[in-house]
Amino acid sequence: MSVRPQILIVGSAGQVGLELQRSFRDSGEITAVDRAEIDLAVADETRSLIRRVNPDIILNAAAYTAVDRAESEPELAMAINAHTPRVLAEEARRSGALLVHYSTDYVFDGEKHGPWTEEDVPNPQNSYGISKLAGEEAIRQVGGKYLIFRTSWVYGPHGANFLLTMLRLAKQRDRLSIVDDQFGAPTTSIELADATYYTVTKIVAGKAGPVDAWAGLYHTTCSGSTSWCGFAKAIFARAGKLLGGKLPVVDPIRSEDYPTPAKRPHNSVLSNAKFNERFGVQLSPWDTALDAVIAQLSKTDQSRAES
Ligand SMILES: NC(=O)c1ccc[n+]([C@@H]2O[C@H](COP(=O)([O-])OP(=O)(O)OC[C@H]3O[C@@H](n4cnc5c(N)ncnc54)[C@H](OP(=O)(O)O)[C@@H]3O)[C@@H](O)[C@H]2O)c1
Repeated sequence: MSVRPQILIVGSAGQVGLELQRSFRDSGEITAVDRAEIDLAVADETRSLIRRVNPDIILNAAAYTAVDRAESEPELAMAINAHTPRVLAEEARRSGALLVHYSTDYVFDGEKHGPWTEEDVPNPQNSYGISKLAGEEAIRQVGGKYLIFRTSWVYGPHGANFLLTMLRLAKQRDRLSIVDDQFGAPTTSIELADATYYTVTKIVAGKAGPVDAWAGLYHTTCSGSTSWCGFAKAIFARAGKLLGGKLPVVDPIRSEDYPTPAKRPHNSVLSNAKFNERFGVQLSPWDTALDAVIAQLSKTDQSRAES
């Protein structure tokens, strides 16, 4: 690999894509593309993009992430979450590039007591989970130098996510009913991008050993866990300043009381032990990571007020 690697980030306008651009900004020559530049569902476009950029590292942050909409658009979800990753993996394999890809806790059915490991058998309950699992399998079949990071409940200062939805709803309503029987690990786009950076840096520096020692699937989330309701309460406990003191009452409800097109797992907490041991990288506890995002949003809010 060259001293200043060529890094291609696809899905660069998404939550994780934006943070990857920040984390990797001093690591090489970055080409960041999103829908404005390319439709990744078109395999020929994707192949010619990769051949033109000739990257050493491909970071795939693109995905079809509308979990409920995927129930009515399963082919589209499959195109971007399974067929595109196969094309990326084939191109990476052909040129010897490293491919980093993200997958989801929703590959599991949620019925296990305790955190899921990489050895546990997936059993996705919705179209999104099925398409993401197919993407993992496609990359594994192609082989080569790849990392698949299964993560969960991604949010951050930008994009469509639970935190920003809660802040918006708090301005409109005095009470919010939030599901309290689905457990997972809220993970910030910031932590995930930084963990990706540390891991890739180790690999590029030859500190992770030969490909066989590190290529594969890893669970990569913030540590600890909570329910969506617990997450909402934690947000409002920190967001007093952002919301000018207008804090809603949060009422816990069951999944049955909030029907959605896509079924979601009750327990999708992932064990990060394999990732921590293999790379010596650990993401922050979810509530500490939340502090950092709230602090960032508060800073942006304050500079907006001052300008
Ligand atoms: N969000 C979560 O809670 C969550 C949880 C677990 C795992 N993950 C995984 O983490 C990764 C990053 O997720 P994220 O939350 O950062 O997603 P995101 O914010 O939805 O970003 C995905 C990006 O991919 C782009 N994209 C989709 N289809 C495309 C196409 N055909 N051509 C070009 N670009 C396309 C989207 O553009 P448009 O906006 O224009 O469609 C968007 O910019 C994904 O692999 C996701 O499955 C996410």
